[in-house]
Amino acid sequence: ELGQYRHYMQKEIFEQPAALSNTLEMLGTTHSVQPGLFGASAEPVLRAARQVLILACGTSYHAGLTARYWLEAIAGLPCSVEVASEYRYRDSVADPATLVVTLSQSGETADTLAALQHAKLLGMRHTLCICNVPESSLVRENALRFITRAGPEIGVASTKAFTTQLAALYLLTLTLAKLRGRLTPANEGKGLSALRHLPVAVGKVLELEPHIRVWAERFAMKQNALFLGRGRHYPIAMEGALKLKEITYIHAEAYPAGELKHGPLALVDQDMPVIAVAPNDALLEKLKSNLQEVRARGGELFVFADADSEMSASDGLHILRLPEHYGQLSALLHTIPLQLLAYHVALVRGTDVDKPRNLAKSVTVE
Ligand code: M6R
Repeated sequence: ELGQYRHYMQKEIFEQPAALSNTLEMLGTTHSVQPGLFGASAEPVLRAARQVLILACGTSYHAGLTARYWLEAIAGLPCSVEVASEYRYRDSVADPATLVVTLSQSGETADTLAALQHAKLLGMRHTLCICNVPESSLVRENALRFITRAGPEIGVASTKAFTTQLAALYLLTLTLAKLRGRLTPANEGKGLSALRHLPVAVGKVLELEPHIRVWAERFAMKQNALFLGRGRHYPIAMEGALKLKEITYIHAEAYPAGELKHGPLALVDQDMPVIAVAPNDALLEKLKSNLQEVRARGGELFVFADADSEMSASDGLHILRLPEHYGQLSALLHTIPLQLLAYHVALVRGTDVDKPRNLAKSVTVE
């Protein structure tokens, strides 16, 4: 079943181009978004949404955090993203005009299911889920749904489920933006073609694997690591840190790079590798000055830049460039090298990649 691969996680990382093209297959060749892709009754519900509340756990929560940047910038909708296990126990203020979006690979995560029930009890009736398992409990609970077609995910570390969730969330954002009159036909066409081109773009990023293997060797004996990102790449840094701690047992934390000087910079010395997600976007210049703060304290920097980022390697500053800059969806592409990094560090450390200690694939208890 593993074919040419050593582990399910590796296989699932490399399946991402196919997982994305299967998930996006229903787009066909259309140049316009179709609300019906989220369910027959989706159009009036999506049109009426005044804000979005995303509920999820773990990696799915990171997909939600990424989507918030898109929903606010492209669809102009206020969006909050909540860890499901916290939301269900908080006395929050509900607005019935909220679209509640639950995200889950398995559709069986107890906290996410309970958070959805809690939202419904508070009077929020418009709910939509994005899920990878069509016959799951979560899908049964939602009239509106989008099924990602990542295929079965066996490795405990979620990989292809995450990137297909991101693709679905981007499509949802374009759909909401259009219904709200915020998407020009030109931008609609561009957004859809960026989605369609993803399998090819992800395939090119996967070719970086040999370089990442070399980085992994340098990393493997470290005890701690910091991940930095800014804007929509901050949740990607969080996802990179989660992957690393989950399968390598290296303690990793993610920070929005601007927060460094408010505390975590005190941790940085030559034993603290710092991984930065640094595509060429509006925040790159700010990020570069954050990285200089790290270098000045002796921290070794591993930077995932892209073809356009004006940065050059120097002593203690290693750079890997992704082949193309991908605009709003660059968050999705920048996930791939972080998955590969965690995987290769785990190989060097000899941990159980597919079944990390203390964890279950599907968390069906509170
Ligand atoms: O099936 P779900 O997406 O609801 O699972 C949520 C989390 O348990 C899951 O993403 C977990 O964080 C992964 N092991 C991370 O790789």
